[in-house]
Amino acid sequence: LENGMARAPPMGWMSWGYYMCAARCEAGDDKCLDEKLILSVADAFYEEGYQEAGYEYIIIDDCWSEKKRDENGRLVADKRRFPRGMKFIADYIHSKGLKFGMYTNIADITCMQYPGSLKHMEIDAKTFAEWGVDYLKVDGCFVSEDILNKAYIQLGQHLNDTGRPMVYSCSWPYYIEFIHRKTPNYSLISKYCNLWRNYHDVQTSWLSVAAIARFYGRRYRELAPHHGPGHWNDPDMLIFGTGVLTRSQSRVQLALMAMLSAPILLSCNMKMITPYEKEILQNLDLIAIAQDPLGIMAEPHEFESTSGTATIWLKPHLPMKGDQYLSYTFAVINMENEEATGMIQLDQFPLNATDGYTVMNVFTGEYFLNVSLSDAIEVKVPGQDVAMLTLYPL
Ligand code: DGJ
Repeated sequence: LENGMARAPPMGWMSWGYYMCAARCEAGDDKCLDEKLILSVADAFYEEGYQEAGYEYIIIDDCWSEKKRDENGRLVADKRRFPRGMKFIADYIHSKGLKFGMYTNIADITCMQYPGSLKHMEIDAKTFAEWGVDYLKVDGCFVSEDILNKAYIQLGQHLNDTGRPMVYSCSWPYYIEFIHRKTPNYSLISKYCNLWRNYHDVQTSWLSVAAIARFYGRRYRELAPHHGPGHWNDPDMLIFGTGVLTRSQSRVQLALMAMLSAPILLSCNMKMITPYEKEILQNLDLIAIAQDPLGIMAEPHEFESTSGTATIWLKPHLPMKGDQYLSYTFAVINMENEEATGMIQLDQFPLNATDGYTVMNVFTGEYFLNVSLSDAIEVKVPGQDVAMLTLYPL
């Protein structure tokens, strides 16, 4: 969608992955979707270096509202959990220089049975704009294929009519493919949405991360042409800070998102992020690749291994200032348990810097000796790990 928004894939935090519908909270309950939680994420972004690294949007997913609209047909935030309302939260988030996101569904109710926007598109668009929403996630539960194809376009029009710029996130293709068993029209979807979910919800498990990686590998040819500034495929949230990933698994999930030019949305209690997870989430070399202005989705290639199996993902990105040739990042991702070893033969890839490249290991920050186009780089990737190497033109 060419509305000036999401020129790079959005980065931030979204409630669903970890908190889901945590609406029935007891006093003192730590796992509760409420004002305190949202403000604590804003504080963590502001105080702990996330904002400087590019994390920006704080998005409240399903289960935020009262079960009924008010007498004027307007959505109302849950009075117990959000006693000062959503405008207050938006103002707080904005006062820190961050951005605020919310959620609705394209049917009469949301997936969790709260009021939805189908018959209230105009008033809801206005309400979100008045509250100061900068990003709207619109789910696609409970409607026909026909309604999906019409209502996402209509709601987008109403959002546009408010005059408030909002990132428009759709779940349109997910429901077309996995609920209605049809082929999504990605040319159409990318014209009307800034990002869109393609595949199932991420679960807090390594298996789920692996399934998502396989999906984007399989579907590269279909998805990559529609991916770029203002219009992104969305593989769903990271599961950092939930205690389920080993260090190397966390490298894999983050590397995959960076390579795909995917949104980087956390979903956890920010206090649960380990020091190591925080370090890689704030690795500025990695973020620069993830947020590269070209926004190209990495292409999967076979890794010709001498032992084990892995996939080479290759992503071209803008060079450092003044360079004549593009930079490239190779991520050799090993989803199996056994180590994978092999060579990256540079002449098998479309690299073209005649003086060769200098190679940086993105996770360690180490530089290797320079390489020329006829060289091969030896890589050894332990099980469930990634080797991420950036080649900067010399
Ligand atoms: C399904 C979506 O895919 C999830 O990300 C989340 O928004 C839930 N619905 C909320 O009900």
